[in-house]
Amino acid sequence: MLAKLEGACDVDMYRQGDLPHEELLSRLAGKQGLLSVVTDTIDRPVFEAGRDLKVVSTIAVGYNNIDVAAAREHNVVVTNTPDVLTEAAADLTWSLILSMTRRIVEGDRLTRRGAWKGFALDFMLGTDLRGKQLGIIGFGRIGKAVAAKASAFGMRVAFSSRTAASSPLGEAMPFDRLLSTSDVVTLHCPLTDETRHLINQTTLARMKRSAYLVNASRGPVVDEAALVWALENHLIAGAALDVYEREPEIHGGLLSLENVVLSPHLGSSTIETRTTMIHLAVDNIIAVLSGKPPVTPI
Ligand code: GLV
Repeated sequence: MLAKLEGACDVDMYRQGDLPHEELLSRLAGKQGLLSVVTDTIDRPVFEAGRDLKVVSTIAVGYNNIDVAAAREHNVVVTNTPDVLTEAAADLTWSLILSMTRRIVEGDRLTRRGAWKGFALDFMLGTDLRGKQLGIIGFGRIGKAVAAKASAFGMRVAFSSRTAASSPLGEAMPFDRLLSTSDVVTLHCPLTDETRHLINQTTLARMKRSAYLVNASRGPVVDEAALVWALENHLIAGAALDVYEREPEIHGGLLSLENVVLSPHLGSSTIETRTTMIHLAVDNIIAVLSGKPPVTPI
């Protein structure tokens, strides 16, 4: 991948983990392309400092970290990596749903600390998915891919979406009805001003007490303090999260609850998917720098 990029242009690569914003700004002079990840804040100062920038290519599908309006004003093309990570993200979502409802992570903790006393009929009972309703909030590529796998587990699908009115994959439902009737609620919407803290005290209180919440979209879609409050007050049965409001920090209340599964932002993290994402992001940079249309513009 790096060889491909180096074959096409000079590369200045930051190798020490997260790139501090000041350092990013100071290294932009004379650069035409920027290959970035979700932890980079690509805000207006980036476009002001990067006077030669032609393209920002993010190795991710979500681009809430990029000021796309500022990019447009500065005639910078922004690209992302949709489609290639859809199945990996949907699989991760199902991993969270299954490990939460069957108490796999909690059971692993118990087993490792030597607390397992042997098989018992009433030990660590989880809950069936068969016959239950999966409520999907945000019905884009990943939401639909999650829905497509639901029949394998005998779940019926309800979805709430700003854009999709109907689908053979499930029943379109108003947001409030979806919340109050679903057994598992899973979030697949982008982070925008509208969806920030979409899941808050009010919306959590609408969910069934037996329901589970899954978030593999963006952390700030969920008000973490409200989620801790709902879990501590048994307003919902559990939660499984892959993303957090202030990554890599996690609300202390979540860390101490048994009925919460926490994974460290692994949505697209398979060898195959990440390799394909990086190739696509590099192809987008090379296309724009050689005067061609990008493969996947935003
Ligand atoms: C990862 O979080 C992505 O948006 O691809």
